[in-house]
Amino acid sequence: MSLKLVTIERHILETQKQFPGATGAFSSLMYDIAFAAKIIGREVNKAGLVDVLGYTGSTNVHGEEVRKLDEFADSVIFRAMDHTGRFCVMASEEQEDIISIPEKYDCGNYVLMYDPLDGSSNIDANVSIGTIFSIYRKVSKGDRGTLEDCLQPGVDLAAAGYVIYGSSTMLVFTTGNGVHGFTYDPSVGEFLLSQSNIQTPKRGRIYSTNEGNYCRWKNGTRNYIDYLKKVDKETNRPYSARYIGSLVADFHRNLLYGGVFLYPGDKENPEGKLRLMYEANPLAMVVEHAGGAASDGRQRIREKQPHEIHQRTPLIIGSKLDVEDAVAFIQEKRRE
Ligand code: AHG
Ligand code: MN
Ligand code: MN
Repeated sequence: MSLKLVTIERHILETQKQFPGATGAFSSLMYDIAFAAKIIGREVNKAGLVDVLGYTGSTNVHGEEVRKLDEFADSVIFRAMDHTGRFCVMASEEQEDIISIPEKYDCGNYVLMYDPLDGSSNIDANVSIGTIFSIYRKVSKGDRGTLEDCLQPGVDLAAAGYVIYGSSTMLVFTTGNGVHGFTYDPSVGEFLLSQSNIQTPKRGRIYSTNEGNYCRWKNGTRNYIDYLKKVDKETNRPYSARYIGSLVADFHRNLLYGGVFLYPGDKENPEGKLRLMYEANPLAMVVEHAGGAASDGRQRIREKQPHEIHQRTPLIIGSKLDVEDAVAFIQEKRRE
């Protein structure tokens, strides 16, 4: 079988032909994201050998201890993007305020919001981690980007995706025209198309959640997880429990195999732990364009009107029918 060597740029140019108005700006910003991913992947893959393990001794805006690789990944991304003239403003999990484009550089028509390193707690254990990114179009009137550009609902995303630094480094993204996976080939230094038009199964047999939080869950969530564990041949239960603790890794496995990931709100943290703008929304765009669904237990994730760049949200995401079941239980419309 002849291997079609399709790079990210080639793929975007080929698919962009369907959008005559599209400029080269989008394929070039995707090139820049792939470039940043190569640099981060190189450090992640040798994390044990150079001094990027462990903590920086500082804490981020959320009071979480910042690991050297978090900080490294964050600086790689905004330094790779701030001078390209493609973005008008950025926002990062690791930076409290929006990241303005320095006056000496031109502003572009896109907005980048990102989680530079997802699953940081797993770095020292050599478990897969990732980078998650959201891309919006500029909506503010001035020539520089503002907070308004960073508070758009997920339905207005222009593109979204993630990089997973695992047994191979993969970049998965969608521009609303299918979900496509590219695997990094270090021997040529390129991401090559490895999975096009990814579709997630309508129903899976995997559930991913931190059951250590069971004691704090509300009844609806408990009833759902208890339901998945009951034997019922007809509905293929019990499901298998798979939880890595890196959202990107759990999400990517469920996207390909089918299943549901839940980080629900609980009695102590009604909005859960995960962030709307650079974890839930981008993965919601990917999963919806792969035929799946993403909810906060009350509404579709992408329809939530953001009010703060670091706001948290409960997240139930994955195979459409499993997400529908989970939401029905969480809303206590179902008990069995
Ligand atoms: P980050 O490393 O960007 O802070 O994200 C960590 C998140 C997410 O990757 C994962 O699903 C979740 O934290 C795990 O949380 P628990 O350890 O509470 O299960
Ligand atoms: Mn994260
Ligand atoms: Mn992170």
